[in-house]
Amino acid sequence: MKVVKVSDNEQLSLKAMDIIIEVLGSYRSPVLGLATGSTPKKTYQYLVEQYNKGEISFANAITFNLDEYVGLAPTDSFSYRYYMDEHLFNKVDMKKENVYIPNGLATDLTNECEKFERQIKNVGPIHLQVLGVGVNGHIGFNEPGTSFESRTHVATLTESTRQVNSRFFDSLDEVPKEALTMGIGTIMEAEQIILLVQGEHKAEILHEIVHGEVTENVPASVLQNHPNALVITDIDV
Ligand code: F6R
Repeated sequence: MKVVKVSDNEQLSLKAMDIIIEVLGSYRSPVLGLATGSTPKKTYQYLVEQYNKGEISFANAITFNLDEYVGLAPTDSFSYRYYMDEHLFNKVDMKKENVYIPNGLATDLTNECEKFERQIKNVGPIHLQVLGVGVNGHIGFNEPGTSFESRTHVATLTESTRQVNSRFFDSLDEVPKEALTMGIGTIMEAEQIILLVQGEHKAEILHEIVHGEVTENVPASVLQNHPNALVITDIDV
C-alpha cells in the first residue's frame, strides 16, 4: 500500500480526480467503483467541472457504488443513489443503464446482493475503486469483524456508524439500521484502489490502517495486501 500526503482537501480531491480521469481515458469501457459520504464530494465536483469544460466524458463509463441503505428508495434524498445523481450522474453524460447501485427497496435482499455480484462479474473487473473510510476503519459498510472473504451482503450498521452518519439525516432515528454493501472480497478484486482519508479525526485509524496489523477488526487494513492500493490523505501518517 502506498501513501501520498497532500496539503488539504482540495489537493486530495484534485489528486483523486486526476487518477479517475486517467482511468476514464485508458479503457474503451472504464469501470469505476464509487463511494459516497463527505470525503469524495469535492472530487465529484471537480470531475463535473472538467466535464463542463469538455475535457472528459462518462459516456462509455460503467459505475458500481459500494453501498446503499436498506429501506430507502433511490429517489429518497438520504439514499446513496440520490447522492450520486445529485453530485455526479445528473451533471455529466453518464448513461443511467450503466449505473449499478444496490436497490435498498428490493423485496429479496439476498437476491439483490447476488444480482449485484453477477453484474460486477459480467462487466468487471472494476478498474478503479474509490474508497473512503469510517473512524472505525470500515470500508463500504463492512464494519469491524467482517470477513475479508465477504461478498456483497446485508450489513448491520454499528451504533457508532449510525451516530456518525446521522449528520446527513434529520435525526438519529431516521438512520437505517442495515445496508447493502459490496463485500471486502469483492472490493479487493478491483484492479486499482484509492482510499481517500481527510481530517485529523481519522489520524488514529489511518495509522492503524497503514502501520498496524492486517486484521478484520480494522477492515481497511486489508488494503496492505492489495497490489495496487494508494492512500491519499492530508494527515501525517
Ligand atoms: C460510503 C461508504 C463509507 C464512507 C465512510 C467515510 O459509500 O462506503 O464507507 O466512505 O463512512 O465517510 P465520510 O467520507 O463521510 O467520512
